[in-house]
Amino acid sequence: MKYTMNSEDRKWLEQTYEKLVVKLSAQCDRLGTMMPYVPENGVYQDMGAVHLEAWTNGFYSGILWQMFHAEGEEKYAVNAEGIEKRLDAALEAFENLDHDVGFQWLHTSVANYRLTGNVKSRSRGLHAAGILAGRFHIEGDYIQAWNSREKQGIAIIDCLMNLPLLHWAYEETGYISYRQIAEKHTDMALKYIIRPDGSCNHMVEFNPVTGEYLNNPGGQGYGSGSSWSRGQAWAIYGMALAYRYLKKPEYLEAAKSVAHYFLANVALNDYVPLIDFRASEKPVYLDTTAGVCAACGLLEIAEFAGEYEKSLYISSAVKCIKAMDPYCVWNPETDSILSHGSARYDREYDREVPIIYGDYFLTEGILRLMEKAFLIW
Ligand code: GLY
Repeated sequence: MKYTMNSEDRKWLEQTYEKLVVKLSAQCDRLGTMMPYVPENGVYQDMGAVHLEAWTNGFYSGILWQMFHAEGEEKYAVNAEGIEKRLDAALEAFENLDHDVGFQWLHTSVANYRLTGNVKSRSRGLHAAGILAGRFHIEGDYIQAWNSREKQGIAIIDCLMNLPLLHWAYEETGYISYRQIAEKHTDMALKYIIRPDGSCNHMVEFNPVTGEYLNNPGGQGYGSGSSWSRGQAWAIYGMALAYRYLKKPEYLEAAKSVAHYFLANVALNDYVPLIDFRASEKPVYLDTTAGVCAACGLLEIAEFAGEYEKSLYISSAVKCIKAMDPYCVWNPETDSILSHGSARYDREYDREVPIIYGDYFLTEGILRLMEKAFLIW
């Protein structure tokens, strides 16, 4: 879609895009088929070599496909395809995969298939979709997040971002169960994870035998009843995507309601999210990844919002991305761009550090505003 912007924002955007291209081009030359997570002293390690099934292993490939689409340079596609092939061992081993096969294979195989028509990629994507669909519980209508007998009753807000894999599989095959599973899980999230005030739980737990609702345990945020900011961002973007595919008005309303809650909270901290909007006042921890993910969700809402509403979501997305300026490292000789991302509230080693998905959503947000992004979800 076309974004109208004032001249100051337009200038900022164009300058930021130039820096992004320089940085990501240099990284592409340096990293090859690496699957980065968090850099150490500005140097990425290969997460794929130590934990091939990590849920984050698709994001760098997502960046590469976005850049291939935006810039048309073959080197991005070559490295992305190398990552996709490396992930075959995880697909084959199967047992350690969980609901995050969406994040992993939307950013690799499905992106490849959508952009190049590679049939082997299509088949990998459908394989991953089968795994995701197989996690659906008919009692409780939810997709099981993690693996273990003890955790089989748990579903989490993040899963909304995995569901586009099922929508894609439905579009490819016409098999209605993919779509029905995605819809039932989304309805479940609306009922049990998103709260009436627009804030969200991270998790919901059901009795897996009867499907009876049990509780909303705390997750990656401050605790039960708190408001983990990346979870809010997943809800904004995930519900907007659910609306894209299923066109149920309540999904767009939910995306807007969580967005309004998110914006009211980030406005208190110059549009830089805290890890949790309902944590104790001190210590204050930031999570920039929530800000850039939410910005992409706001731009997705803008695609479907009414004529007079669009500018609210577009201007807010620009504010959220511009707020990241002080946290961006554009030096092309070091790895990663966005600092101060946090995986979770209660863990120190990946708190307030650069995390690969922060860079992914920063890239997607800038490319969306430049009208150079393709829909990876
Ligand atoms: N899906 C896991 C996370 O957001 O950290």
